[in-house]
Amino acid sequence: EKAQIGVTGLAVMGRNLARNFARHGHTVAVHNRSYNRTKELVEEFGNEGTFIPSESAEDFVASLERPRRVVIMVKAGAPTDAVIDEFAPLLEEGDMLIDAGNAHYLDTRRREAALRERGLHFVGTGVSGGEEGALHGPSIMPGGSPESYEALGPLLEDISAKVDGEPCCVHVGPDGAGHFVKMVHNGIEYADMQLIAEAYDLLRQVGGHTPSEIADVFRGWNEGRLGSYLIEITAEVLKQNDAESGQPFVDIVLDQAEQKGTGRWTVQAALDLGVPVSGIAESVFARALSGGADVRKAAADAGLPGPSATAGAHEGDLQADVEQALFASKIVAYAQGFQQIQAASKEYGWSIDPGAMAKIWRAGCIIRAKFLDFIKQAYDKSPELTTLLVDQYFLDAVSGAQDAWRRVVVTAAQHGIPAPGFASALAYFDGLRAARLPAALIQGQRDFFGAHTYRRVDKEGAFHTLWATDDRKEIDA
Ligand code: 6PG
Repeated sequence: EKAQIGVTGLAVMGRNLARNFARHGHTVAVHNRSYNRTKELVEEFGNEGTFIPSESAEDFVASLERPRRVVIMVKAGAPTDAVIDEFAPLLEEGDMLIDAGNAHYLDTRRREAALRERGLHFVGTGVSGGEEGALHGPSIMPGGSPESYEALGPLLEDISAKVDGEPCCVHVGPDGAGHFVKMVHNGIEYADMQLIAEAYDLLRQVGGHTPSEIADVFRGWNEGRLGSYLIEITAEVLKQNDAESGQPFVDIVLDQAEQKGTGRWTVQAALDLGVPVSGIAESVFARALSGGADVRKAAADAGLPGPSATAGAHEGDLQADVEQALFASKIVAYAQGFQQIQAASKEYGWSIDPGAMAKIWRAGCIIRAKFLDFIKQAYDKSPELTTLLVDQYFLDAVSGAQDAWRRVVVTAAQHGIPAPGFASALAYFDGLRAARLPAALIQGQRDFFGAHTYRRVDKEGAFHTLWATDDRKEIDA
């Protein structure tokens, strides 16, 4: 008997994906650089399905039916290239290598092009949901050729999370499209986490609530429109007490957030595409600020002062207002992320269906939320939607939230509590709303110092003012 699919790289994610395939009745070839892990997998979980363990890459490849489907689950970067270099020579025309790691989409584009030349399919696929998701049903975002999806899609759909029986897996688009979308998923994940953290901080510092009380607030919110995996686990984390000290867990953890890079990549790509993903950017920078121990120490040593006046109480129901600020800011972050996906899709000719992305993020992945149903509906109604903010549901939500949202940003500023997520989302919203932006002045400055020219509101063409002359005459540029 030959295996329908193979997995190489059997650390926890690879192992769980392999088990997931096996539990769904597929025969799974398994391979790892050191054979121990392979043996362990079969010893511990062999009863869950049919595994064909191999010690050598050659045996592993030989144990697969054609076209061969080889899932690579190793660290992004050089380790992935090394595995590709090892396996590509052993494969035959039409076989496929599937990179399920968090690869950079430009690496995926490069690898796909190189392997296509050799007659092989390279499928860069996003997989979200952590260890548990990999085992019980992740959200899967495969890129690559349509032909590869025909041969691979059904297996991936089989092991993916389901919503009302529908798989959280869809062919995203060619080459790097899957990894791009996974990257933006992670960027949005950063924004969600930052916004939740700001909500917690305000409830704690302004509201004076304990972490455990705030956990109850989050549990309440989780029953409403904010219902999501991240809100749910936040409540769990806030309820946790440190066994050793008895202190709330959040108080004994070092307040320096780490990152493996996908959020940063999202922002880097957005800068190149010219899409303002300010919510994601603020989240990445907030992590960087938290991690900048030297700078924070210098500030502490210098005693950077806070507000001189004692800030008054929040003008309103703090808890209800923070919920509104959180929801509105979340809408902005998603609107920006989806805009980035659409911009990249256009740039690379990927034809990504944004509604389908919302659909496959409804379960399995880290940002899974009730909220994604509304995004899906928005794109179902108007597939060409320019920004989610003009969809009626989101427009109503943000309009309804905005007074509270403004009060929260004011309170944060008056108390000297950093809320870059809430504040920048509001600034973005106001920027979009503005009938006139001060960008006209910036154009004037550019023209003054660099003769960079400007366009006028009342006629076509490019113009330059002769700023250095006495009469400052305008000329056609
Ligand atoms: C997922 C997660 C996963 C991982 C991130 C965390 O979708 O399952 O996003 O990919 O947990 O890499 O990223 P940071 O280490 O950058 O926070």
